[in-house]
Order: sequence, then structure tokens, then C-alpha cells
Amino acid sequence: ARPAMIDPFGRDISYLRVSVTDRCDFRCTYCMAENMTFLPKKDLLTLEELDRLCSAFVAKGVRRIRLTGGEPLVRKNIMQLVRQLGRHIAAGALDELTLTTNGSQLSRFAAELYDCGVRRINVSLDTLDPEKFRKITRWGELARVLDGIEAARAAGIKVKINAVALKGFNDQEIPAMLRWAHGLGMDMTVIETMPMGEIDEDRTDQYMPLSLLRAQLSKEFTLDEIPYRTGGPARYVEVRETGGRLGFITPMTHNFCESCNRVRLTCTGMLYMCLGQNDDADLRAPLRASEGDELLSAAIDEAIGRKPKGHDFIIDRTSNRPAVARHMSVTGG
Ligand code: GTP
Ligand code: 5AD
Ligand code: SF4
Repeated sequence: ARPAMIDPFGRDISYLRVSVTDRCDFRCTYCMAENMTFLPKKDLLTLEELDRLCSAFVAKGVRRIRLTGGEPLVRKNIMQLVRQLGRHIAAGALDELTLTTNGSQLSRFAAELYDCGVRRINVSLDTLDPEKFRKITRWGELARVLDGIEAARAAGIKVKINAVALKGFNDQEIPAMLRWAHGLGMDMTVIETMPMGEIDEDRTDQYMPLSLLRAQLSKEFTLDEIPYRTGGPARYVEVRETGGRLGFITPMTHNFCESCNRVRLTCTGMLYMCLGQNDDADLRAPLRASEGDELLSAAIDEAIGRKPKGHDFIIDRTSNRPAVARHMSVTGG
């Protein structure tokens, strides 16, 4: 039998998200403040250390790894880590190696990603309007991302489009985005914005329950429930008119925590057992304490042993304070 990490609620923790940097070349307004203080380089684990941590998790039963950021592809020499992790794919120890990316660097890295064993990526894209794109990312260039998506597809990587649903910003545009994505054979997911970290905007203004979006979409499309799952929180429908899949990620209105399979590692070696809680575990100290993995393995067991039951995000309409103080970019979602 494969090794397994079972948490106190009987959940099999087989999926690791690794934030390789807290930096990003964009500043999506729902994700970051305009002026962010990023970690000093000296606080980052090296790529070798990140590889060692990931390998320890693989040895303990992790079957899927997703690299996140910030933007994972802006971490210096990131392909060195991707290549190392790809060895686990080749060896059959890992089922999937993926990334969640803003797409800005894909033109440069797509072919190499495929070569390392990456077969599927999620690209965050909230609008297809260049002006709106510049606004939501604060300075990003849409054409560059679209080129990146093309490069990934051309390289043989399956691309899924992630859009955060933002009231008054892109809710009217989702049908067009859906037609575009499905027209190119890409699945799409829409996401409810989660209250993490101080941003410069009022989250209560932009928050949109996906039940509303779904009702809007139902006027134009026939949405058939399907059992399709990727192991993530999204619940999918098939859109009859396009034949494509649309996923709904609804942390705020429908909790999916009972089937959670994941923990999150940061670029400083902290492990967060839940996206929506503050509980953490320091893996850097046991990592650096010895060459062998015994201490590290014990620290991982201890952390999994106190994984919380679920998040308790709320959109606080009185104080507008984020439910979780750290930014999304610390754990990459
Ligand atoms: P797939 O493997 O394609 O299913 O990916 P995924 O949806 O698990 O990961 P992705 O990085 O594309 O995340 C999409 C959105 O879901 C992001 O906004 C994440 O923050 C959010 N998300 C992913 N996992 C969790 C989770 O465990 N809890 C919560 N609350 N949100 C999550
Ligand atoms: N709420 C929901 N999703 C968010 N993301 C970033 N910030 C938030 C937030 N506050 C998304 C990005 C990306 C993924 C990693 O997380 O758009 O798709
Ligand atoms: Fe799991 Fe926490 Fe996400 Fe819930 S919020 S699904 S418990 S990581």
C-alpha cells in the first residue's frame, strides 16, 4: 500500500501546494495591495531545500504537487525545481505536477514545463478586455498572457482558466469568457473572492456569490451537473451549448472542507494546514537541523495531526477586516 497521511478528520492528505515565491509581476487588486512588502531574499528557502521538502512529502504519500506563488514562474531558476520534481513523475511516485500561474512567463517556459512532466496548468485570467486587464492587475499586459496561453497549448499542456468573480467588474463578461475558453477547448472555473490580507479595496463591494452568477448564466446556457472532479474544490457543470466544462469554487457559500486533501507549503518553509486558518507549522527548523529526514517527517506528522476541520471565512460587513491576515500570495490560494 502507498504511504498515506490521514488527518484527524479522516482526510487523506495527498496533495501539496507549494508557494515558491511571494512575489508577482502583477498586483491583482483583490489579491494584493499596490505597495507590498515582499520577503527579503535571505528568508527564502533555496530551491534545493524546497525540493527536499517536497520529496519528504512525496515519501509520506503526496501524489500531486502544484506550484503556486505569488507567481511561480518569476522565482529565479524555478525550472531547476520543476525538473527535480519531474523526476518523481518519471519514477511513478507522483501522479501530477502542475502550476497555477498568471501566464505572463509562459511563452518562455511552456516547452520546458512540458519536458519536465507538466501536463496541465491553471491560468488566472479575470477579463479579456486589455484595459480592464490592466486595471485589475494594476499594470499587466493581456496580450502577453494570451500569447503565453497559446504557447502552453502548443506545447501540449492542458490549460484551465481561473476567473475570480467580481461584482461590477467581470460578472457581465463571464459568458463571453466562457465561450472563448470553451471555443479553444479549455475548461474554466469561477471563484468566489476570499477575504485574505489587507488590500486597498472594499471586499464587500466586489464579492459576488456564485449562485447569482450561475442564475445569470442559466439564462443563456444549459448547465448540466457532472461528476467530473480534478481533486480540487471546484464543482463542475457541462455547458450544453459549448460542450465545455465550467467549475464553481464556492468557499464562501458552499463549504467543501469535508473533502479537503491538501496542505500548503510556503517559500520560507511554513506549512499551512488550511487556507482559511492561521494554524501553521515551521518545517524549516527540522529541515535544517539534520541531513536526514526523521525530524522533518515527525514535524510533518505533527502538523497533519492538527489540520483544522475547515475555514471560517466571513465577509465582515461592519469592520471590513480580512478574516485571515496573511495575503493570498503567501500561500498561492
Ligand atoms: P485543480 O487541480 O485544477 O482542481 O486546481 P485547484 O482549483 O485545486 O487549484 P487552483 O490553484 O486553480 O485554485 C483555484 C482557486 O481555488 C484559488 O482561488 C484557490 O485559492 C482556491 N482553492 C484551492 N484550494 C482551496 C482550498 O483548499 N480551500 C479554499 N478555500 N480555496 C481553495
Ligand atoms: N479570493 C479568491 N481567489 C483569489 N486569488 C487570489 N486572491 C484571491 C482571493 N482573495 C486567486 C487567483 C488565482 C488563485 C491562485 O487564487 O486569481 O487564480
Ligand atoms: Fe481545506 Fe481549509 Fe481549504 Fe477548507 S479551507 S478546503 S479545510 S484548506
